[in-house]
Amino acid sequence: MTTSRRVLLQRGAAIVGAASTGLLLPQIARAQSDKVRVGFMLPYTGAFAPLGVAIENGFRMALNEQGGKLGGREVEFFKVDDESNPPKGVENATRLVQRDKVDVLVGTVHSGVQLGIHKVARDTGVLNLIPNAGVHIATRAQCAPNVFRTSFSNSQPTLALGKAMVDRGHKRAVWITWSYAAGDEAFEGFEQSYTAAGGTILKKLSLPFPNVEFQALLAEIAAAKPDAVACFFAGGGAPKFMRDFAAAGLNKNIQLYGSGFLTEGVLHAAGEAAEGVITTLHYSDSLDTPRNKKFRLDYAKNFRLQPDVYAVQGYDTAQLLVQGANAVKGDLSNKRALYAAMQGATIDSPRGRWTMSKANNPIQDIYLRRVEKGENKVIGVAAKAVADPGTGCRMG
Ligand code: PHB
Repeated sequence: MTTSRRVLLQRGAAIVGAASTGLLLPQIARAQSDKVRVGFMLPYTGAFAPLGVAIENGFRMALNEQGGKLGGREVEFFKVDDESNPPKGVENATRLVQRDKVDVLVGTVHSGVQLGIHKVARDTGVLNLIPNAGVHIATRAQCAPNVFRTSFSNSQPTLALGKAMVDRGHKRAVWITWSYAAGDEAFEGFEQSYTAAGGTILKKLSLPFPNVEFQALLAEIAAAKPDAVACFFAGGGAPKFMRDFAAAGLNKNIQLYGSGFLTEGVLHAAGEAAEGVITTLHYSDSLDTPRNKKFRLDYAKNFRLQPDVYAVQGYDTAQLLVQGANAVKGDLSNKRALYAAMQGATIDSPRGRWTMSKANNPIQDIYLRRVEKGENKVIGVAAKAVADPGTGCRMG
């Protein structure tokens, strides 16, 4: 036997011996758990599928800008398609936490599904980063120290809408939306801001999510003869609503307004029907800042797609996690320090810098935008530093 072969055999025997006595196992175990386990619970099918994809793209891009690491540790991803299906919310979130043992659960888009994730986050203590769903209780009544939102609360964009409408002389409006938490809570912000500015809501119309049979409701709008219509629709339903509104001829005499999701990621699909639509949102494609321009260019190069607000939110979710993980040098079990770093973070976002409220929701400017030549053009800041009225969450 050659010397080198004998050395190899001896080494092999030593490794087998070490493994059988358990000496090597901690090392193997550590090598596996060395990676931070990040779970995406997002819609990859259904009306909100493009929103889920944009969030994941944005998240991966921000992480790649940090060499793909969190506090020096590699990252391993797990994915669940939540289908924007609320009854499966708890089951899907539990799968990521129990089966995949994720350290961080990133999700989701739909407010009804978020309620399921929220229950699991509160029950298990898993770190949950909300990259979209604006459901109020997550950062109000049931606010939790392990839950951070990087997007908005459902009433934040519409709290800035009412005054902008009245300022344009549109004082009699009909409201229309999907009847679930996101639409109902967007209405709360609209009702508050519109009536405070002197506007009158003539009618409140709704249909179940994700229904897009708008005809009967458009007839009701025509009969009410309002100055304006304000709405919350998003994803696949949004361009359908704008096209049907225009096809019914309503855009000739009635100005269409919306929570800005109406015109995010869908301008191509909506075509001419979106021109002139006015919305309020915490982002706009046309923000003329070096930060936004670089982000847009990098995203287009990486994914051959134009980014939208959802991509920005995904990007900021990873930015927040990077700040937290760096502060604890990758030791995500140091929860007190991790949460404190994330609570105190300032995020240098394509939307503009923002900070966390005491209830872990962004304090941010809301822009007034108008669709011009297939782009969301900023025409002003509708409201500065809008904070959701949460009172803060305590460590358990
Ligand atoms: C929500 O369900 O909270 C939701 C969904 C899509 C949006 C905004 C909010 O664009």
